[in-house]
Amino acid sequence: MTIHIGAEPGEIAETVLLPGDPYRAKWAAETFLDDVKLVNEVRGMLGFTGTWKGNPVTIHGSGMGMPSLSIYVNELIKDFGAKTLIRIGSCGAMQNKIAVRDVILAMTATTLSTPSRGIFKEMNFAPCADYGLLRAAADAAAAKGTATHVGGIYSSDVFYDERPDLNEQMVRHGILGVEMEAAELYNLAARHDCRALAVLTVSDHLLTGDALPSDQREKSFGDMVEIALEAAFA
Ligand code: HPA
Repeated sequence: MTIHIGAEPGEIAETVLLPGDPYRAKWAAETFLDDVKLVNEVRGMLGFTGTWKGNPVTIHGSGMGMPSLSIYVNELIKDFGAKTLIRIGSCGAMQNKIAVRDVILAMTATTLSTPSRGIFKEMNFAPCADYGLLRAAADAAAAKGTATHVGGIYSSDVFYDERPDLNEQMVRHGILGVEMEAAELYNLAARHDCRALAVLTVSDHLLTGDALPSDQREKSFGDMVEIALEAAFA
């Protein structure tokens, strides 16, 4: 048991999927895992452990933004021994070749600041995904026929962004999409010798204004969960 995770020792699997939304964690665990057990509900942040094809898996909410994700991922790694951590979330697309509902696999995550800023100071560390997970996720997405893009994303600190010039530079430099968690996940995985990946569904498009209709969100989220599970155990 830690400050933010009420699980007993041994109740968290080495493989952890991290949706931002705790109710998505509940839905994914109940839909895709067997023998599901609720292992955390401190502050309403739900975590569940079960098995997928016989493999132990935890699906735990990360909350929104890097400070929230950083709390859970620090405790999952340092106190519960998590080794493979895959974010499953949504992002806003930043390139015209990308459509709403497509999947983005984040090879790198550019950011202005993260909770790790205090360590890196003047250094621009390049947070990147684990290559084995990335390759396996790309293979799994291709096998499903999911329209998938692999490349750099932007982890922002704000959803309501008052700096359109930053987004313009990201678009200009080929960044595929914007979300708010992956860079810190990649930093922590690098620091603690873990594997990490962010699998993202495009929920909205910053250039076209398109948005994923709510009735399609569940199906898209399900595709992401399957891609993440197949990548984790490839
Ligand atoms: N900005 C930041 N995070 C997001 C967005 C966005 O437009 N869409 C989904 N997550």
